[in-house]
Amino acid sequence: MAEQHSRFVSEKELDRQRAFIEKIRKRTAAFTAEKGRPPYYHILTFGCQQNEADSEILSGLATEMGYCESEDPAQCELIVINTCAVREHAEKRALSITGQLKHLKAANPAMKIAICGCMVSQEHRRDDIKFRYPYVDILFGTDKLYRFPEYLSARLDGGKRSFSIPDSEGTIAEGLPVKRKNAFSSYVSVMYGCNNFCTYCIVPYVRGRERSRRPEDVVKEVKTLVEAGCREITLLGQNVNSYGKDLERPYDFSDLLKEIDAIEGDFWIRFMTSHPKDASKKLIDTIADGRHIAHQLHLPLQSGSDDVLKRMNRVYTFAQYQELAAYANERISDLAMTSDIIVGFPGESEDDFAKTLEALSAVRFDSIFSFLYSPRKGTPAASMEDQIGEAVKKERFERLLQLQNSISKEKNDRCEKSVQKVLVMGRSKTDDSTLTGRNEQNKLVHFKGSDSLIGRFVRIKITKAETFALFGELEED
Ligand code: 5AD
Ligand code: SF4
Repeated sequence: MAEQHSRFVSEKELDRQRAFIEKIRKRTAAFTAEKGRPPYYHILTFGCQQNEADSEILSGLATEMGYCESEDPAQCELIVINTCAVREHAEKRALSITGQLKHLKAANPAMKIAICGCMVSQEHRRDDIKFRYPYVDILFGTDKLYRFPEYLSARLDGGKRSFSIPDSEGTIAEGLPVKRKNAFSSYVSVMYGCNNFCTYCIVPYVRGRERSRRPEDVVKEVKTLVEAGCREITLLGQNVNSYGKDLERPYDFSDLLKEIDAIEGDFWIRFMTSHPKDASKKLIDTIADGRHIAHQLHLPLQSGSDDVLKRMNRVYTFAQYQELAAYANERISDLAMTSDIIVGFPGESEDDFAKTLEALSAVRFDSIFSFLYSPRKGTPAASMEDQIGEAVKKERFERLLQLQNSISKEKNDRCEKSVQKVLVMGRSKTDDSTLTGRNEQNKLVHFKGSDSLIGRFVRIKITKAETFALFGELEED
C-alpha cells in the first residue's frame, strides 16, 4: 500500500488548506457585513467532463470560503477560468476571455483572477499569462486544485502573483468539497491522468500519470449520490479501462462497475472514456449483465487506417476494434456506440481517409465527435512531416459529417414509435416550451411537459427522429 499512499495528498496537507479556507471565510464574512452582500464568484469552464468535475470542486472550495456564485463576471470578486489544451481552438478562446477580463478588473480592482486547468499546465502558456496578462493573480496546474485556498489567501493578503505548473506525476486529494451543478446527474472521477501518450495528445503531459482512486472511496461517493436522489452518474477517467492497474490488489474497472451496480436504487451508470486497447470482453459482459449500467459505449476509434493508428500510437488495428464492437453489439442488442474521429492527422492520405469512411459504414456509430487535427506543442505528431493543410482537413471533415449524419439519422429512425425511459434534464436551450432529456442510450429526447418533471425519469413515446435528437410525447403513468 506504501506506493499507493504516496499518491494521496496527506490529511495534514488537507488540514493546512482547511485553515486557509477558515482564514478567507473571516475575510468574506467581514465583506458581507460591510457591503450587505456576500462576495461573488464566477467559474468559466472549457473542455471535457473532467474539467467540469474539477470546476465543481473549485466551486465547492469557493463556497466554503464564503463566496456566492454569480452569472455576471462584472460584479464578481473572484473569477476562475478552468482551461483546456486538447485543441488550439479551446486555448484561443480561453486566452481571448482572459484578455476581456482586463477591463473588468480595471473597473473593480478588488477582483481576483485565477486561471487553472490543462492549458496553463504547460510551461509556455504559464509564461504567456505571466508576462502578457499582468492582471491575472493566480495560476495553477491540474495537480494543485486542492491548494487553491492557499494561493488565494496569499494573494488576498497582498502576496505576489503566483504561478504553479505541475511538478509531480500527480496526486489524489480525497474529501474536497464539491458543489454540483445539478442534483440528479453527476460526474464522479474514478482515476486521473493518462499513460498512453497517443502521439497527437497533450493530456499525458498536463494531467500526469494514471492514478486510481480507492474503490471504497468511489463506491461511497456513488452511494451517497444515489441516496440523495441522483439518477445518473457518469464515472470519469481519461482511460477508465486502466482503472486499478496501480492498486495493490487485483481489481479492475469491471469490478468497480459491478460493485456500483449492486447499489440499490433507480439510476443509470455511464462512464467515459474507454480506450479500445483496454476495453475487454469482461467489460462488455459487465454492461450486458448489469442492472443500472446504461447500454451506451463511447469507444474512440480516431481513424480507420491501421497505418494512421500506428502513427497515433493507438496500439490496435481496425480489425481488432471491429471484433470488439461486434462482440458488444452481439451481447447488448440495444447498445448505442459513439466514437471520436480525428481528421487530417499528419500523413493521412486520401486512401487512409477513405478507410475511416469505410470504418464508419462498417461499425455504424450512433454518433461521433469529430475533430480537425490540431498540432499540440511538445507532442510527437506536432513535429511529424507531412502536416495536412487546413483546406484538405476541412473538406474531409465535411465528407465525414455527411456520411455520419446519414447513419445517425437511420439509427435514430429505428427509435420511432418506441417508448423510451428518459431522464429529464431541463428546458431546451433553443425552445423554452420544450423539455429535453436523455434516454438510456444517451440520445437527446425533446418533448412537452412541466418543470416539475426535471430530474425525474419519464416515459416518452417517440413520434419523430432527426439526426441529432428524438422527439416525442409524454406517456401518462
Ligand atoms: N487534435 C484533434 N483532436 C484531438 N483529440 C485529442 N487531441 C487532439 C488533437 N491534437 C481528440 C481525440 C480525443 C478527444 C477527446 O479529442 O479524438 O479522443
Ligand atoms: Fe489522450 Fe490517448 Fe490518453 Fe486519450 S488515451 S487522453 S487520446 S493520450
